[in-house]
Amino acid sequence: MNEHGSKRVLGIVGSPRRGGNTEILVDEILAGAAEAGADTEKIILNELNILPCQACDACKDGGECVQEDDMSELLAQMERYPIWVLGTPVYWWGPSAQLKAFIDRWYGANQAIFKGRTIILTIPMGSGSKKTAQHNVGMFNDIAGYLGMNIAATVLAPSVHKRGAVREHPQILDAAHQSGRDVVEWNN
Ligand SMILES: Cc1cc2nc3c(=O)[nH]c(=O)nc-3n(C[C@H](O)[C@H](O)[C@H](O)COP(=O)(O)O)c2cc1C
Repeated sequence: MNEHGSKRVLGIVGSPRRGGNTEILVDEILAGAAEAGADTEKIILNELNILPCQACDACKDGGECVQEDDMSELLAQMERYPIWVLGTPVYWWGPSAQLKAFIDRWYGANQAIFKGRTIILTIPMGSGSKKTAQHNVGMFNDIAGYLGMNIAATVLAPSVHKRGAVREHPQILDAAHQSGRDVVEWNN
């Protein structure tokens, strides 16, 4: 058991498409985590009001973001979970706008929220080449290094374009499920 209480896993879905590949992958990881004894919860970023960072630096002067939206509550919720599953589809070789707006708002957050967190990434893409996810993977690796987070697993799903297409890839779903199990077992 670590300082945050290890058996809690929060899934954060960065795709606006409900029942889409990102959500299916996050669900599968959470199902694996639940099987290993974790309490799980899922957030759909697109259903929250998360405004883009305005770079006003009020957070740096006064300590808190001045924007009144759902972000402060979401950060408080994230703080209660030691393990986060972050999912985004590849959009133009990068993340979805929802995921990027959410990450940009980490700038104004108490950085202690991030240090020591364990994360699992999951990224579906239409392309058949996993290389299409390289900028997302690189971005998350650099952010994790900077903030002191540990990426326990990265589950990539190439060749999935239509909503739910990842269901036709049982090996990827198995890998997602197993990563959820493993992260809970290893963090105990
Ligand atoms: C705006 C937009 C941009 C996209 N850009 C890419 C891309 O650059 N490369 C790629 O392989 N797939 C791209 N895709 C396809 C998605 O990554 C793919 O359909 C993914 O499975 C969507 O996940 P979801 O079902 O969770 O929304 C794009 C889709 C959209 C809607």
